[in-house]
Amino acid sequence: MACQSNDDLRALVEKARPIAKEGKVADYIPALGKANPNDLSIAIYYPDGNCISAGDIDRKITLQSISKVISLALVLMDRGPNYVFEKVGMEPTGDPFNSIAKLETTVPAKPLNPMINAGALVVTHMLKGNSVEERFQRLLNFIQDLAGNQSIDYCAEVARSEFETAHLNRALCYFLKQHHIIDEDIEELMDLYTKQCAIEMTCLDLSRIGLVFAMDGVDPESGRQIMPLDVARICKTFMVTCGMYNASGEFAIKIGIPAKSGVSGGIMGAVPGRFGIGIFGPALDEKGNSIAGIKLLELLSKTYSLSMF
Ligand code: DON
Repeated sequence: MACQSNDDLRALVEKARPIAKEGKVADYIPALGKANPNDLSIAIYYPDGNCISAGDIDRKITLQSISKVISLALVLMDRGPNYVFEKVGMEPTGDPFNSIAKLETTVPAKPLNPMINAGALVVTHMLKGNSVEERFQRLLNFIQDLAGNQSIDYCAEVARSEFETAHLNRALCYFLKQHHIIDEDIEELMDLYTKQCAIEMTCLDLSRIGLVFAMDGVDPESGRQIMPLDVARICKTFMVTCGMYNASGEFAIKIGIPAKSGVSGGIMGAVPGRFGIGIFGPALDEKGNSIAGIKLLELLSKTYSLSMF
């Protein structure tokens, strides 16, 4: 059975929403602190172009860590897996997303995976282009293609807010520079990374990107292969093993959908071969994932047997 109507989705949203009270909006990036913790919305995008949704789907959210899986796809296309995985690993950490701990104990000091901040900063460092502007524009164009929406841009206020307060990310970068994993100007890299994280879109756009991952890199509406099959597979595997950070194991058991979260409260899901999901619920659990968003995905997965396992 498939979830087919807006009413089906609305019922699940209302069932999941109360748990938002137990979460907290991220405020370590000050501009994110303005979000309403009770918001919850979802869009599902099917390969035939059909979409269903519930909640405020016109509201735009910044991608934050969801951008990490997209920049990884572009860097894999630019440079190939051998080059990329020389600088960043493939293993889950079991640590929070911003942890610096394992960098010091891992030899060589390369980040364990591209979904934690340290690994994502290395991936952003590998984005090709002759300037920060050109590298950002390439990523933005790729995201616009995936979403099928050329009007997607970044939120300057959120980018600036993170740029001004990203002391821990700067620390990770300087550590990585000392160990020759990164070799560019750190302020430039922070400029690029914070703009990447501040790319904003609606749940519908997000679900459209999830759909392309779900369909192994093919845009089902145009038939175009936007990313190669092996790149889509690598990204989906990271979504399963590291997409929810140190909650990824529990998420795989309870929900079983490749997904990536961000501290804005977004979650992008890719149900293999079936559909893409975009969720926004800004109240977070203690691991930095949308608390009502995860509940909603759990209800959706149980109701419609969506687990891939
Ligand atoms: O680098 C950061 O801290 C943020 N721009 C992104 C972190 C994030 O989204 C973690 N996800 N739950």
